[in-house]
Amino acid sequence: MEIVKILLIAIGGYGANYMKELTEKNVTNAKIEGICEVMPGIEKRFPIINEKNISLYQNIEDFYQEHEADLAVIATPMHLHYSQAKYCMEHGSDVLLEKPVCTTLEDAEDLIRVQKETGKFTAVGYQMNYERDVLALKQDILDGKYGRPILMKGLQAVRRGENYYHRNNWAGRITAGGKTVNDSPFNNASAHQFQVMTFLLGQTLETAADLKKVSGELYRANGHVENFDTAAVRVEIEDGTPIYYYTTHDMAEKNIGPFAEYQFEKGTIYFGKDFGDGPVKEYTAVMNDGTVISYGDIPKGERLQKLYDAIECCMNGKTPVCTVQCAIPHLRAVLELAKLPIRQIAEEQLEHVEEDGDSFCQIRNLKEIYVTCYKNNQMPSEVGADW
Ligand SMILES: NC(=O)c1ccc[n+]([C@@H]2O[C@H](COP(=O)([O-])OP(=O)(O)OC[C@H]3O[C@@H](n4cnc5c(N)ncnc54)[C@H](O)[C@@H]3O)[C@@H](O)[C@H]2O)c1
Repeated sequence: MEIVKILLIAIGGYGANYMKELTEKNVTNAKIEGICEVMPGIEKRFPIINEKNISLYQNIEDFYQEHEADLAVIATPMHLHYSQAKYCMEHGSDVLLEKPVCTTLEDAEDLIRVQKETGKFTAVGYQMNYERDVLALKQDILDGKYGRPILMKGLQAVRRGENYYHRNNWAGRITAGGKTVNDSPFNNASAHQFQVMTFLLGQTLETAADLKKVSGELYRANGHVENFDTAAVRVEIEDGTPIYYYTTHDMAEKNIGPFAEYQFEKGTIYFGKDFGDGPVKEYTAVMNDGTVISYGDIPKGERLQKLYDAIECCMNGKTPVCTVQCAIPHLRAVLELAKLPIRQIAEEQLEHVEEDGDSFCQIRNLKEIYVTCYKNNQMPSEVGADW
């Protein structure tokens, strides 16, 4: 195979990144065979569709009646992932599927079955798993450089307002159109920093560590959101290592973090730590004897490295590093959290702000509370958050 024929499924949201990469960059080993998108007027947003006569369909069934694709790239709403990935593999395509892999464990297991049956792969789009510095760090962990894991933690939050929630009919929803969605910052915008911890603790390069316990405190600040929008999570992986993770969409800052601290027997790996000259935005390990190891010299790869890896694997019959299994621990955490109660934060703890044509709900002192939780491995209720 010299040129990988790609079917792009959904180019109106995050999927626009794949469309732009393939049409604006010089990708010589792949071509767009067709697009499937239901958004009216999408050709106006991407005039190249008409200019280059790219076949545009409303559904994948019609595409496969007339075409074949080596690779399908799926960036539809999460509750459509399972059926579309299955259909594409059954119709001869490898798949690069946006995260989360799907919305139930049964469906994720079934995708593994379909992979075996069809000989096709589904790679999941957690981009950090494809970053070369992350892979180098994982290799060092696997090689025993850091010894046994003791505790991992992460804090990342991005502010999201009404515009974000109103862009579709599933953002912030527990169900949409009768299907499980469980959309939240933990499952969507801030999924990566949690998932990568399970990935780094996987027993092999292509697996993530599964979870045996999931607990946490879930809160809703924004009263228009159905699911929680603020979460402090504690999980234990199979070997008992605890992982703490803190995220929210409701704070005064545009971003908090990402901060990460991975404690191992022989040293601690940090991301976003301030060693005196401001936060260091690269993985940096400090060994117990004081030696510092930086992963900052390793080029991360392309921004959409996952796309390039999927294209290459399609050509050489290999499987990209972020397998369906790598997505399952995160999905398990999402489903376990869905069983916990969500506490509505009282109005007196909140501020409402209009900014840049958007409106935001902010929890007072959230950053301070989360930084304390992160530092001490605690939950908001344990550090005096009166929510
Ligand atoms: N990797 C990342 O960093 C990242 C970032 C954002 C979103 N995502 C993931 O991408 C996926 C989409 O998220 P989004 O924010 O773009 O959602 P969105 O709702 O904003 O956009 C979804 C797109 O899918 C299209 N669509 C809906 N139903 C379709 C169908 N049946 N066939 C074809 N197209 C259809 C919509 O018209 C729209 O263009 C989610 O799984 C999300 O988690 C990943």
